[in-house]
Amino acid sequence: MHTINLILILRYKLVINILLDYNNKYYIYRNGIFMKILAIGDIVSRQGCDYLRQTLMKLKRDYGADIIIVNGENASTGNGILPADADFIFNCGADVITLGNHALRRPEICDYLEENDFIIRPCNYHPSASGKGMTLLDKGAVKVAVINAQGAVYLDNIENPFTAIDREIENAKAENASIIIIDFHAEASSEKRAMGFYVDGRASVLFGTHTHVQTSDEQILPNGTGYITDLGMTGPYYSVLGIEPEIAIRKMKTNLPVRFSNPDGPCTVEGCYFEIDNKTGKTVNIERFRR
Ligand SMILES: [Fe+2]
Ligand SMILES: [Fe+2]
Repeated sequence: MHTINLILILRYKLVINILLDYNNKYYIYRNGIFMKILAIGDIVSRQGCDYLRQTLMKLKRDYGADIIIVNGENASTGNGILPADADFIFNCGADVITLGNHALRRPEICDYLEENDFIIRPCNYHPSASGKGMTLLDKGAVKVAVINAQGAVYLDNIENPFTAIDREIENAKAENASIIIIDFHAEASSEKRAMGFYVDGRASVLFGTHTHVQTSDEQILPNGTGYITDLGMTGPYYSVLGIEPEIAIRKMKTNLPVRFSNPDGPCTVEGCYFEIDNKTGKTVNIERFRR
């Protein structure tokens, strides 16, 4: 009697497994397979780092993210990023750290940029600069390239970002990357929007960083590139781009030197979620967030 029961249970389990497997395959057939990416705006100060640690795993769970990209150029007090800050951000769960105009502010980071493949600085820096402007993530069937570039408007006069991004997209394709993500670290919203349309259909995603103010223009461009002008910031909520308001006001009112500091109190994490079709490399869903 016991043996017959066991056989029935095993058969029942087998049927259930076949049905679940079929259901899973049917879901993939109907919906495709998607790469889910979270991009997090500039981390500012120790307060921003601590808030990232408190929030990132919950964000990852909420969105079921496969890849997390964090802009870390202001992670150190003052600005720039130190090796300990980069380690901290990776330990919070970041897969890639992108940077910007403060990338090389702290000389201590130069060796780290050479040794770690997953922290990148703008690709249009002078060829003698430490580090690299593109990295590759091998996600099994899909290779994902992440590119960092810096704008030319109101920032240092470095290589033109349009030609630099053309080159890096070609490099990514030569490495068989089917998903290409670009962090365009730039000041002018016009330059960022122009770059969005310039790469539309060639990159899966282009998001802006640097202004620390989140824009509400997230959209999927006509040829499938997920786009937002600026992700925003991760750091003190009651601040001027992460800086103590009273100090920012004094600086602007007197134009005398001040020492920047970052206020304690509530923080915010801002960014954008992108869902990309692995087959086409196009964004199919985009959602801006602030927590
Ligand atoms: Fe920044
Ligand atoms: Fe910046």
